[in-house]
Amino acid sequence: MKIAVLPGDGIGPEVVREALKVLEVVEKKTGKTFEKVFGHIGGDAIDRFGEPLPEETKKICLEADAIFLGSVGGPKWDDLPPEKRPEIGGLLALRKMLNLYANIRPIKVYRSLVHVSPLKEKVIGSGVDLVTVRELSYGVYYGQPRGLDEEKGFDTMIYDRKTVERIARTAFEIAKNRRKKVTSVDKANVLYSSMLWRKVVNEVAREYPDVELTHIYVDNAAMQLILKPSQFDVILTTNMFGDILSDESAALPGSLGLLPSASFGDKNLYEPAGGSAPDIAGKNIANPIAQILSLAMMLEHSFGMVEEARKIERAVELVIEEGYRTRDIAEDPEKAVSTSQMGDLICKKLEEIW
Ligand code: NAD
Ligand code: IPM
Ligand code: MN
Repeated sequence: MKIAVLPGDGIGPEVVREALKVLEVVEKKTGKTFEKVFGHIGGDAIDRFGEPLPEETKKICLEADAIFLGSVGGPKWDDLPPEKRPEIGGLLALRKMLNLYANIRPIKVYRSLVHVSPLKEKVIGSGVDLVTVRELSYGVYYGQPRGLDEEKGFDTMIYDRKTVERIARTAFEIAKNRRKKVTSVDKANVLYSSMLWRKVVNEVAREYPDVELTHIYVDNAAMQLILKPSQFDVILTTNMFGDILSDESAALPGSLGLLPSASFGDKNLYEPAGGSAPDIAGKNIANPIAQILSLAMMLEHSFGMVEEARKIERAVELVIEEGYRTRDIAEDPEKAVSTSQMGDLICKKLEEIW
């Protein structure tokens, strides 16, 4: 079981370190060992090798069974030409190389954090448990032509039938094992690519008569998410809309630091939904839970370790229930625990409940 570990930039290395501590507990308890091969991506790779996705990193990823990524990017590299930046030249290039077409971002609200959420009991009290299924390898992020000069910048949003069919099937398959509701989010009143999207999603839906399908425009979806989030089960959407809506849905539990993600393709990659958080990087205050829950997703989806994944999730929940919080979710910042303390608390709890 070989894992490519790419800590990346900003808080990436800080939170990846904590997740690897959790993995050590899993190794100790199960007697299974993982080979971890470290690689460089993003600004970290630019500083060392002059490019955001070096050949060596590609090789490490292609030879691994799963990829475990922190995050990339930061103000230091924002003025580089687009293709040389951590995001486009690093992360997006890696996603394309691995054909990562489906990005799964589950959102769960912890009971003991309901009052921490800016939306409080009134909005989220009725229960929030949703998952965003985001198309990750096409759409406006990759469509050609695109270009930039002094006078204009332009991108192209393209979806073809095959791509929509594939991501729609992923969403319906996930919904089958949940509350059997898919909400497809598009902008089919304006965008041609969305018109095709809606048509193809309707066709795929016929293969899943037990799953209820609703279509909704993205502007309304953005509002419904904070107005009545309990109406959503599986949100199926495009690359860019999924990017925006998944960050928005982080306001439900109260922090981006709680949102893990898994991306499926030729190989699977696991990374938090949030970014490198330059505003808090290097201070040991970031929330490592998104990275730790991404580890749980990796164990479940790439290594079939379902029980172990559930145990990690349970340990996280119990530590939160006991009142421990990093600054992003703390009622009283004075009492917040650090990134490494949170990691240690989760490890200790995991050992206890194993
Ligand atoms: P961001 O997600 O890094 O941060 C947004 C806000 O959420 C910040 O206030 C940050 O402090 C907070 N936050 C995020 N993760 C947190 C955590 N684990 N604990 C506590 N707080 C957390 O988004 P941004 O500021 O718009 O972007 C910063 C950089 O990260 C940019 O270069 C961007 O391109 C990059 N980025 C990378 C990824 C990725 O690698 N997958 C994802 C998003 C953004
Ligand atoms: C994410 C990020 C990336 C995206 C950026 C860093 C390219 O925001 O993973 O959500 O837009 O997909
Ligand atoms: Mn994003």
